[in-house]
Amino acid sequence: MIKDYWTKASSDYSDLIDEEMQKSYKDKWLNFILDEIKDLEGPLEILDIGTGPGFFPLILSSKDRHLTGIDLTEAMIEEAQKKLQAFHVDADLFIMDCQETTFPDQKFDCIICRNLVWTLPDPEKAYKEWFRILKPGGRLLIFDGSWYIHHFDPSAKEKYQALKDYVKKTYDIDVYPYGDKETNPDDYELMKITFLSDKARPAWDEKTLTSLGFTVDKVLEDYLDFLVGKEERLARGDISPVFFIKASK
Ligand SMILES: C[S@@+](CC[C@H](N)C(=O)[O-])C[C@H]1O[C@@H](n2cnc3c(N)ncnc32)[C@H](O)[C@@H]1O
Repeated sequence: MIKDYWTKASSDYSDLIDEEMQKSYKDKWLNFILDEIKDLEGPLEILDIGTGPGFFPLILSSKDRHLTGIDLTEAMIEEAQKKLQAFHVDADLFIMDCQETTFPDQKFDCIICRNLVWTLPDPEKAYKEWFRILKPGGRLLIFDGSWYIHHFDPSAKEKYQALKDYVKKTYDIDVYPYGDKETNPDDYELMKITFLSDKARPAWDEKTLTSLGFTVDKVLEDYLDFLVGKEERLARGDISPVFFIKASK
C-alpha cells in the first residue's frame, strides 16, 4: 500500500521539486544544511533517505560531498535519475528499504531525510539501522512533519483550524486535506496504517533516538517558518506542523 501510494505520487512530486529548484529557495536549504554539518571533515559521504525525485542530491552534491540517494519506489528513483541528468549532477541512486539497507557498518558521515520518517511502518527499526551505517561522530538530519496530528490531538486541531481559516480568508486557498476521509480517501487510508500518525512528535523521535544511542543536538519546531518565511508558507497554504532534528552518533 505504501509503495503504491508513492508510485502514484511520483510524477506530481517531481513537478514540486522543479519548483523547489528555483535558486533562492534551494540556496536557503543548502545554507541551512551546510551550517548543520560545517564541523564534519570532508570529503563527506552523505546518504539521502527516501530521496524521492532527488532534491537533496541535486542541491548538495559537490566535489567535497558524495551523495547516495535511496528510495523504496522504483518510479521515484526514475524521476531522480531524470532530474540528476537534466541538472548534470552526479550521485548514486538505489531502490532500497531504509529500514533494512545493504550498506556496511559506519559507511556514512551524514544521513539526511525529508518528509520520510512519518511514512515508515517501523521508524524505530529504521533509526536503529541508520545508527549502524553512520560513522562514529556522524550526523543525522531529519526534516519531517505531523501531517495528521489534528485528527488526534484537540490542541493541534484548534491550531490547524485557526490557520486554515486564516489562509482561506487572506489568500483564498483551501489547504491540502491531510487524512480527510471524504475528500482524500487514499490519504485517509495511509493515515490509518502509518505508525506515527497519532504520535506526539518530535518528542517521540527524541526519546527513541536517545534510547538507541544518538545524542540529540538540536530540535527546531516549525523550521520552515525560519527557512522559508512564515507568511510565505501560509501564502502557499502550508500550515502543517513541521520539525527539524539534528542528532549525532
Ligand atoms: C514525501 S516523499 C519525500 C521525497 C524527498 N525526500 C523530498 O523531500 O522531496 C517520501 C519518499 O519516501 C519514500 N519512502 C517511503 N518509504 C520508504 C522506505 N521504507 N525506504 C525508503 N524510502 C521510502 C517514498 O517512496 C517517497 O519517495
